[in-house]
Amino acid sequence: MAFETILAETRGPVGLITLNRPKALNALSKQLIAELAEALTGFENDDAIGCIVITGSERAFAAGADIKEMKDKSFVEAFSQNFIGLNDWERVTLCRKPVIAAVAGYALGGGCELAMMCDFILAGDNARFGQPEITIGTIPGSGGTQRLTRFVGKSKAMEMCLTGRQMDAAEAERAGLVSRIIPVADLLEEALKVATQIATLSRPVVLMAKEAVNRAYETTLAEGVKFERRLFHSSFALEDQKEGMNAFAEKRPPNFKHR
Ligand code: CAA
Repeated sequence: MAFETILAETRGPVGLITLNRPKALNALSKQLIAELAEALTGFENDDAIGCIVITGSERAFAAGADIKEMKDKSFVEAFSQNFIGLNDWERVTLCRKPVIAAVAGYALGGGCELAMMCDFILAGDNARFGQPEITIGTIPGSGGTQRLTRFVGKSKAMEMCLTGRQMDAAEAERAGLVSRIIPVADLLEEALKVATQIATLSRPVVLMAKEAVNRAYETTLAEGVKFERRLFHSSFALEDQKEGMNAFAEKRPPNFKHR
């Protein structure tokens, strides 16, 4: 896949998307977001791909929506076009395959929001997260006030959205925003390793696990547990469940059929 603002390549069973507007710190322009959505669709439709990694550069995952591109938009345009509403911007939330954000450097505004739309965030030790929109006269527009609050709780989310203060990687890990911190030089290698590991597991079971965890954000505990139980039961209809458990009993690695 050839794009101008991102790189999309395969690394074995992993689809790797690198945001690539270095001069603008990977600001999320309309073109970049459209290309990202197209690349995600390509990897979703490619049976050989079991997991997707989105990354940026060492300096910036993404420094937000492209301010220069949006600064002159009128209310009517923003509202009528549903600017950054449920269109390409939220394509990553529609992915059924797991998507890992490998974040080094700045993840600000829409960059932080994009990372939070992924299934989990691996952070380089130089990562910085923030919702600085308030300092440029607006508020987060792609889920920042909602997802950050769910990740880190009201107090920290409120402080960040009201002041634009950035969190470093250590604070982000303490607050539960990122799953792990990795030395920045090793970040991509580690993200690809984790993604490859996921891609070699049973594909339908991976999709079930992702769906079940995401359900926790959309429903009550009782309904979520019921949903999980139904998926758990249905996994027993899979050859891969038999293979996984037989392999354990026979003390050998499993050879999953569906991946
Ligand atoms: N949009 C457009 N261009 C951007 C950008 C953005 N979000 N962020 C950085 N750039 C550009 C700069 O304009 C600059 O370009 P020029 O060389 O042509 O002047 C280049 O990237 C390098 O940036 P700086 O010179 O500013 O680099 P720095 O190291 O001094 O500062 C920074 C880095 C702190 C990240 C700073 O660039 C910055 O504050 N960027 C804006 C962050 C921001 O406000 N993001 C929120 C955007 S709004 C949004 O995202 C809404 C939403 O919810 C979807």
